[in-house]
Amino acid sequence: MSPNSSTSEGRPPAFSYRDLRHGLLRRSAGRVLCCDEIPLTQLVERFGTPLYVYSASTIRNRTRAFQRAFRKARHTVCYSIKANSNLGILRLLTGMGCGFDVVSGGELVRALAANRRAARKVVFSGVGKTHAEMQAALKAGILLFNVESESELWTLAECAARLRKTARIAFRVNPDVPANTHPYISTGLHKHKFGIPIGEARPLYAKASGTRHLKVAGVSVHIGSQITDVEPFGATMERVASLVRELRDDGHKIDYVDAGGGLGIPYEKANGREFTDYATKYAEALLEPLRGLKVHLLLEPGRSIVGPAGALVTSVLYRKTNNSKKFLITDAGMNDLLRPSLYNAFHEIVPVTIRGENNARETVDVVGPVCETGDFFARDRELPTIDEGSLLAILDAGAYGMTLTSNYNTRPRPPEVLVDGKSVKLIRRRETVTDLLRAEG
Ligand code: LLP
Repeated sequence: MSPNSSTSEGRPPAFSYRDLRHGLLRRSAGRVLCCDEIPLTQLVERFGTPLYVYSASTIRNRTRAFQRAFRKARHTVCYSIKANSNLGILRLLTGMGCGFDVVSGGELVRALAANRRAARKVVFSGVGKTHAEMQAALKAGILLFNVESESELWTLAECAARLRKTARIAFRVNPDVPANTHPYISTGLHKHKFGIPIGEARPLYAKASGTRHLKVAGVSVHIGSQITDVEPFGATMERVASLVRELRDDGHKIDYVDAGGGLGIPYEKANGREFTDYATKYAEALLEPLRGLKVHLLLEPGRSIVGPAGALVTSVLYRKTNNSKKFLITDAGMNDLLRPSLYNAFHEIVPVTIRGENNARETVDVVGPVCETGDFFARDRELPTIDEGSLLAILDAGAYGMTLTSNYNTRPRPPEVLVDGKSVKLIRRRETVTDLLRAEG
């Protein structure tokens, strides 16, 4: 969504330029970037920068698109909390009937804080669940444990026995399907730490079903994140469907297939497509192999729900030229949005206000104040010429933005604001240095 082009994803765009007096006027002079109905300049006046801003309507639209795409199958969207764990967002999603995918005791607490009856729609994933985390999940009565190793299975059985509870389990199988994504977030190959090799699943299911306090209930899989081609999802489901048939032949009751998450978003808008169509293609890829199996499908989307709904708004502190290289130094740093530094991820960056018909452009690095060369948001990016003191919006920062923040350089975390049409809600206040020091000394 550069200032002179419309967004390539259908849905009402989370962030669009408006002329304040004349409504939506993309090509006129003096425009300001708005989240839903609210100019980002207004939010910055109230909350300062750096600032995370999310559009509730976009989150709602994308969730609805997801749910509609799967309407022909019994399914539950278990939103993956790790993408964005703010309680305000979790409440919005639980209000739409979503359950949650959690990967820690902390995320479980968040799920229950968002909705105390959420447990029956919670799935617990992750290779390193602790005893204490299992206990908490058993006490809460979650829907499904996605077990990732035999050792974990025995620990869970022991925990459940001690609490006199029954743990519903699925093994997370590793299908050995390559996903075309960044190596750090690809999980579905045997060389990765995740899941059990799909070929070794049957004997483990046999062991689990013979164990008191464990109840075999499903098969789970997750092949990676930011996967924009639906083909690997289909290939994975073919393998999972065969396993479900074999397990049923072995006498197991397989009610659930947990397909994980991973559907990518078009960070580089050139490849963008309408989300509803894309979700439908994804649904077709998953559902076709499962046809006739009558399983309840669990889905764990994270990024595809919240990614495009968020932006990180930052001020340009300084302009600087080293020899011929130009830098814009912003008040947000890699501690506020790690994705460019960690994955070399592309995020579109746009000016918040565009005044007059100044069409000058320049090639710059957009960098933060943190003392690392890896502290950048864009390198050699062509942008409209930006003055010191101006605001920039780093788009598609709703997923793995705030959740990957840190306090590196003793930098307090930014606040988060949820905009819903004309309403504005501060859903997390700005952290202070006092907050940071409180846990020390
Ligand atoms: N389920 C499981 C078991 C997962 O491990 C993940 C993500 C998801 C669901 C949600 O995947 P999504 O729909 O959001 O792709 N920090 C990285 C992404 C890490 C993904 C980890 N697992 C990034 O910023 O790109």
